[in-house]
Amino acid sequence: MCGIVALIGSREAAPQLLEGLRQLEYRGYDSAGIATVAVEAGCIPARLHCLRAEGKLVNLTARVEAQGAPGLCGIGHTRWATHGKPEERNAHPHLDGSGQLAVVQNGIIENHRVLREELQAKGVVFKSDTDTEVIPHLVARRLAELQAGGLLASGSLLLRAVQEVLPLLHGAYALAVVWAQAPGALVVARKAAPLLIGLGEGEFLCASDTPALAGFTRTILPMEDGEVALLTPLGIELYDAAGERVQRTPTLLSGTEHVADKRSFRHFMLKEIHEQPETAALWVARHLPEPTVGAAAPLVALPLDAGLLDGLERVQLLACGTSRHAAQVGAYLLEQLAGIPTDVFYASEFRYAPPPLSAHTLTVGVTQSGETADTLAALAMEQERRRQVADPAYAPRLLGITNRAESSLGRLVDQVLDIGAGIEVGVAATKTFLGQLLAFYGLAFALAERRGGSINGRSPEQRRALAQQLRQLPQQLRALVDDHDRRCEALAHRFAETQDVIFLGRGINYPIALEGALKLKEISYIHAEGYPAGEMKHGPIALLDAQVPVVSIAVPGTVFDKVLSNAQEAKARDAQLIGVAPEGPDTELFDVVLPVPEVDELLSPLLTVIPMQLLSYHIAAHRGLDVDQPRNLAKSVTVE
Ligand code: G6P
Repeated sequence: MCGIVALIGSREAAPQLLEGLRQLEYRGYDSAGIATVAVEAGCIPARLHCLRAEGKLVNLTARVEAQGAPGLCGIGHTRWATHGKPEERNAHPHLDGSGQLAVVQNGIIENHRVLREELQAKGVVFKSDTDTEVIPHLVARRLAELQAGGLLASGSLLLRAVQEVLPLLHGAYALAVVWAQAPGALVVARKAAPLLIGLGEGEFLCASDTPALAGFTRTILPMEDGEVALLTPLGIELYDAAGERVQRTPTLLSGTEHVADKRSFRHFMLKEIHEQPETAALWVARHLPEPTVGAAAPLVALPLDAGLLDGLERVQLLACGTSRHAAQVGAYLLEQLAGIPTDVFYASEFRYAPPPLSAHTLTVGVTQSGETADTLAALAMEQERRRQVADPAYAPRLLGITNRAESSLGRLVDQVLDIGAGIEVGVAATKTFLGQLLAFYGLAFALAERRGGSINGRSPEQRRALAQQLRQLPQQLRALVDDHDRRCEALAHRFAETQDVIFLGRGINYPIALEGALKLKEISYIHAEGYPAGEMKHGPIALLDAQVPVVSIAVPGTVFDKVLSNAQEAKARDAQLIGVAPEGPDTELFDVVLPVPEVDELLSPLLTVIPMQLLSYHIAAHRGLDVDQPRNLAKSVTVE
């Protein structure tokens, strides 16, 4: 959801800015731009070189190569359009009227309309439809006022002007500002949108996310909400929202895989699907200790504080998109395995219609990026309303499930379950979904064991058997991914002209049907609906004919026969039937079977999701679409 970069140092900024943007392109790719500040023949004001291009980053790169963007300091942006169409005039950076001051911003300035009208009334002419453009005009006007009062142009003056303008801006933002009159200075600020400062040798690189910093430095300073920083080649001055100077020790980037590399795969998404056996193997190695004879060792080793889990009566899960589907599987596990009542909410709905407060409740934010604005806002709201209650039974207990422990989520919640899937570049989440599912298995096991004699949930013996089956997961996934990669590639041509697909599942596989439909929509632009199989006869059945394929998840367990009957109902309406099911006499009704091994039904989503991902991938690839960067989407949605 827009990515920003900013660099100041002693070498040409443009190549590093473009590289940073390349690493952030997963956040948005409607347009891109950079502005660099170059001192020419020792003259101040320096010259601001602003280059922007509609479409993907390659267009901007070509423009920079052709026209040049000299200077040791600069800012850059890759855009996911919110206010204003994805056209060049709406691309960042945005400039003030004199063309001396440039701003890039990620977020939304909610009161931009009022600010724009006020500025227009004072004669300011706007060149874009964006909310961001108010910022360069406001800062430039404040700078002019300060200079008229006798103050000289400097980095400190730019800092002061930005500090005085920020309280006028409502909403969430991360921004970077350069000014031709102070060419050795860069000012950055954040409020409810991510921004990290990377510390190099005599140079600083700021970015919305770690991939842009990984090739530059491992030493980072994540900015906190409300902070503003003045960066020069000599150092950082960091200030809090009240204008007080802040001293904070930088941290080291954790993990090894921060740089995106497609290896020999055609797309990142395919590579990431193929990485899922490793995601599972890592989880098994970390969290499933070898059983020791006679010892009362926990089945699952999960590093969670007792204070989060003790005496729990309820769990609520907040998430968006694919993460919400993982949460739906999670709710099923927490209820069926651990016997604890669990509710799942769209984070964007929860915030504006929260349920009545319940006591002894764990609130879990599920977000692979750790930056989704709706999820963060819902969690913060829940934390705040619980803090207002004097009764300690209602105290907030917040857990995050994420692939980015260092994200804003990590700083908001009491504790994080890091799924450790490594960087995921494809906009359509795959290995992080599997990682989220595994986190929920861990959480459900941990709670089940803690609740021991609960009348609900699975017995200790059943849990032990499940844990034993989970150990097989990495090998099962390896075979499944390789097998379905071939099968789905061979099947894809049958969907070339398809307009609608129905995905059916029941019980713990209903969220997998939703996920199958979402994946297909996201990357192939084919309309798809996920439905609980038993509900099909109450509506979607009206859509069925020979042109509408139905993908049905039918695995042995509580609802196997029911799902097969629902599939028969579809077949009777001439639908093409694709079964994600074990091969055998029971599943002969399907026109095509995408076989999955038989496991305990509670574990089946870990396997049934694989054909969903590969079917969508191969259909989109067959249609020649941009699988990793589908239109209109972004990997991390940092606006509400
Ligand atoms: C965007 C992405 C989805 C993702 C959702 C939630 O919409 O395109 O793939 O599922 O955000 O992202 P999160 O980072 O919170 O899991």
